[in-house]
Amino acid sequence: MARMSRLPYFLFVSMLSLGIAVAVSGCGGSSSSNNQPPPPPPPPPSTDPDVRADAMLKQMTQAEKLSMVMGGVTALDGDFNYTVPKGAAGWIPANSRLGIPALYLADGSVGVGNGVGPSTALPSSIASAATWDLDLASKYGTVIGTELADYGINVNLGGNINLIGREPRDGRTFETKGEDPILAGKITAAHIRAIQAQHIIGGIKHYAFNDQESGRTTENVIVGERAGRESDLLAFEIGVKDSNVQSVMCSYNLTNGQYDCENNHLLNGVLKGDWKFPGFVMSDWWGTHSTATAANNGLDQEQPNQQNFGSLGAAVSGGQVSQTRLDNMVHRVLRAMYAVGVFDDPLTVQPIPAAADAKIAQDEEEAGAVLLKNAGALPMWPFGVKSIAVIGYNADKGVLSGGGSAQVQPVGGAIKGPNPCPPCWAQVVWDPSPPLDAIKAEFPNTQVTFADGTDAAAAAALAAKAQIAVVFVNQWASEGMDEKSLALKDVTSGMNIDQNALIEAVAAANPMTVVVIESGGPVLMPWLDHVAGVLEAWYPGQSGGPAIARLLSGSANPSGKLPVTFPASDAQLPRPVTPQPPDGSTTFDVHLTEGFNVGYKWFDAQGLTPLFPFGYGLSYSSFSLSDVSLLDNTASSTPGFSVLFTITETSSMGGAEVVQVYLGMPASVNEAPHRLVAWKKIYLETGAQEKDSIQVDENDSSHPLSYWDTTSGSWKVAAGTYTVYLGNSSRNLTQVGTFTIQ
Ligand code: BGC
Repeated sequence: MARMSRLPYFLFVSMLSLGIAVAVSGCGGSSSSNNQPPPPPPPPPSTDPDVRADAMLKQMTQAEKLSMVMGGVTALDGDFNYTVPKGAAGWIPANSRLGIPALYLADGSVGVGNGVGPSTALPSSIASAATWDLDLASKYGTVIGTELADYGINVNLGGNINLIGREPRDGRTFETKGEDPILAGKITAAHIRAIQAQHIIGGIKHYAFNDQESGRTTENVIVGERAGRESDLLAFEIGVKDSNVQSVMCSYNLTNGQYDCENNHLLNGVLKGDWKFPGFVMSDWWGTHSTATAANNGLDQEQPNQQNFGSLGAAVSGGQVSQTRLDNMVHRVLRAMYAVGVFDDPLTVQPIPAAADAKIAQDEEEAGAVLLKNAGALPMWPFGVKSIAVIGYNADKGVLSGGGSAQVQPVGGAIKGPNPCPPCWAQVVWDPSPPLDAIKAEFPNTQVTFADGTDAAAAAALAAKAQIAVVFVNQWASEGMDEKSLALKDVTSGMNIDQNALIEAVAAANPMTVVVIESGGPVLMPWLDHVAGVLEAWYPGQSGGPAIARLLSGSANPSGKLPVTFPASDAQLPRPVTPQPPDGSTTFDVHLTEGFNVGYKWFDAQGLTPLFPFGYGLSYSSFSLSDVSLLDNTASSTPGFSVLFTITETSSMGGAEVVQVYLGMPASVNEAPHRLVAWKKIYLETGAQEKDSIQVDENDSSHPLSYWDTTSGSWKVAAGTYTVYLGNSSRNLTQVGTFTIQ
């Protein structure tokens, strides 16, 4: 179905806002009566968002300005409940006198969030990162942007880029893009560019170091400047610069003693100063702690209400906040609106393109699920499989999703589970895409049986009678909580199923047992040696059932790679136990002693063997790399290097490989053995061969050759010898060569 076009450019408002109407009427009549030549036509209205924002600002009263920098919620029902038009999480009411549209703010990390919907439940953002494919990431963002637009929402509270390699038990891992700053930054930027292309103000969050949920409002992160710049802040820097994002959400926690929403160094120093971020900073919900301090230190908009900024007018008249600063806050909000087209391209509320978006959701899952083990059980088609036992709680009903503000109300209706803690922040929700039905459809000539896994002995008996057993296990996670351990724990059934014991029982009965994991991040696998296959499906989204069935059969070929290390135990993590707040009110310090060695860099620096390394993932295809060479460009005006190679598909099945380039820094830089600097996902037909190359350019926003020099407060390229590696995971690399910078 053709989509309705947006309304055209609203010239009149633009001219008014520039004062053009006044200038024209002031000189029109007199010139013709004096027989003078007519005045030159007025210049076309500026398209520069900053010029337009300033022109609008000039016309605004103080009250009108203040209304732009605080949420419109005035009445709370209970502590936190409130209602906003369109089901949004926050809003800024319209200004009809000046024709300023209202802003409606809604979540959208894995599809449109909050209560807005129904909308397409995409696979988790971490699955999008696991595709390592920026084109697919762009489609992922387009689904979110299009559907927000179709609900009339013009600000997206998405872009969760917190680096969960620091704390993979974080309840929000599913919303993030993993542990590597460059991969996370590039994938997030692709999402945001696509969202903003739909005339929606994109967002990136939670700035910064909001890497655990436990005590998130009282946690005081202690982190060194270099450690931050080369890890969490680098992810944000890439995300901000590569996407031209127009809003940043500051986080609940404190960093080095200052709340992030009034952290002068993070907001004024790094974000607006060093990175020249032109848009506005909004607080996380109720994350503002002061009026003048927050405004002066860089917060531009309080959400969702006016708890602190309600006194901003008084702070300006009292001289605690300058008029210039208030004007700058308003300017930033307005320029964001002009920059993405909120004024010029008003949204048309219309039905979402549900069928097309469901197809994209499926493509994303097929490209983002990671095949972790395959000891001959997969793909199933070639075996002409006669019988499959499908086992797992709710595998006959749907696939699991993550909880909290990112929760999507899926097309087809949410299947509600318990509130598991109790009470957790959120209720368990299953997306209506039952793997059992999809497997039956994918294998029409196969006998497919089912057990829900609540009785391990019954499940094992069923598995014993089948040629292959597929066990679905899950790890529910949500905003507002962290997992106690990476060990699998069932909270979704209300029956506390021992999923590890279930897998062991089934695998003992049938060695051809394949485990499908639905989780937001890493889990432990004590049964790994006893099963024939493992597929990490993440939270697979509302087309998850068919995607998983096609990946198992071989109709789809797995090509996802881990964007996060899977540890062998909790003890391997920088903090074996997640730091907990001493009580609800006092702040507590969390020292990020691992510094910039997040995720695989920590494992490599410590010499630890993970269960599965960052960058790892199997395929039904096989690939070889040959003719590998290094082209040293370090002496050129854009310093960098290129890796040249030939890639060949060597199996009987076409597929995709993610070729990864890592860089070992000179010893003086004192870093982990190597860092990811670039990659390319290459799709090849059976037996195809391709000469290819990957360029690494120091001028990129990711500073691939640099370290953060704390003395000068800038990125520096160190003198010394650099080692270049090529491979298909952080632990499967061959040295390509070295280059030296004098
Ligand atoms: C979350 C944000 C979210 C906001 C609005 C907060 O609890 O931390 O990520 O955007 O709520 O729903």
